[in-house]
Amino acid sequence: MVVQPRREDRFSFGLWTVGWQAVDPFGGATRAPLDPVEAVHKLSELGAWGVTFHDDDLIPFGSNDSTREEHIKRFRAALDDTGLAVPMATTNLFGQPVFKEGALTNNDRDIRRYALRKVMRNMDLAAELGASTYVLWGGREGSETDAAKDVRAAYDRYREGIDTLAQYVLDQGYELRLALEPKPNEPRGDIFLPTIGHALAFISQLEHHELVGVNPEVGHEQMAGLNFVHGIGQALWQGKLFHIDLNGQRGPRYDQDLIFGHGDVLSAFFLVDLLEHGGYDGPRHFDYKPLRTEDAEGVWASAEANMRSYLLLRERARAYRADPRVQEALAASRVPELATPTLSPGETPADLRADRTAFEGFDPEAAGRRGYGYAALSQLAFEHLVGAA
Ligand code: GCO
Ligand code: MN
Ligand code: MN
Repeated sequence: MVVQPRREDRFSFGLWTVGWQAVDPFGGATRAPLDPVEAVHKLSELGAWGVTFHDDDLIPFGSNDSTREEHIKRFRAALDDTGLAVPMATTNLFGQPVFKEGALTNNDRDIRRYALRKVMRNMDLAAELGASTYVLWGGREGSETDAAKDVRAAYDRYREGIDTLAQYVLDQGYELRLALEPKPNEPRGDIFLPTIGHALAFISQLEHHELVGVNPEVGHEQMAGLNFVHGIGQALWQGKLFHIDLNGQRGPRYDQDLIFGHGDVLSAFFLVDLLEHGGYDGPRHFDYKPLRTEDAEGVWASAEANMRSYLLLRERARAYRADPRVQEALAASRVPELATPTLSPGETPADLRADRTAFEGFDPEAAGRRGYGYAALSQLAFEHLVGAA
């Protein structure tokens, strides 16, 4: 099978992914800095469609205005040369010491105001470059000790911050939607908005909740031991899956940011199946880190590997859906029946109460004896996944 990423697959990468120099808490860089212009050209050659960035990935922190303009100009030229899109941008609110205690939820009010201005400035650039999503990952919003934070006040300030930014988008007439990225921990001991569920609940409290959705990352939910496919299912159900960070993770441990598929591969299969059949038409964005062991060649091999993994899983998922044995097994397991509403059209609670077939005439013992056939169904999925079906 020819596996060739194409523009219409809508694959995108963060500049910080392929550009990661592999500094970790135990050692320095193993790779040279990567020029964003080179990243754009390389990604384009590999068949990617888009590139995303933090302000500081493109314009080194502390640059003066003319240097800033120069960086933007070079980047723009690379985009024009290649036709690569900028579907999303985000802010680095975690790297500089000023943000060590948080940005939008820092106890220090001046730092919160500074953080909002830093976001606004990069939102202006994101809008200028045609982005439609603005991601907010609150990596430093949190604490290591419960003595440090009044959590209720922190969420007041978090809400105020996001409301202010959404209002700014509206006031400027930008076509941007905001996407909050949950993560349970790392770099903070505990991060606010730790999971998709927390983020969705928080969004419901926002003034401009319609402008705000989520940008879930595979590894982040799995770090918390949660089922990513279920999280994405709920985000889709609530119309809140604005963006996604694809990568790989092996269970609850540090954030591995492996190549997509190089973690829980069965979960990755069902994720691709859901994205492809569940109505998600946004970017397939990879937020991974090339292993620290890799040289430049390995970086590009890993970028390509993400896209290949996705395409291969998509092909397997399509074959799974199209297989008549799968259709039969799904029906035998009554999976399609879940789409039928529990009450009939117009039926009231009183009607249900009066329906003797639902209770008095129902045989719970017989229903309890019946098997659901999931062993056969899930084995079919497995066999499609490994190419044996
Ligand atoms: C992480 C996060 C980040 C964010 C990025 C965009 O764990 O480091 O996933 O990579 O996705 O900052 O907001
Ligand atoms: Mn991550
Ligand atoms: Mn991410």
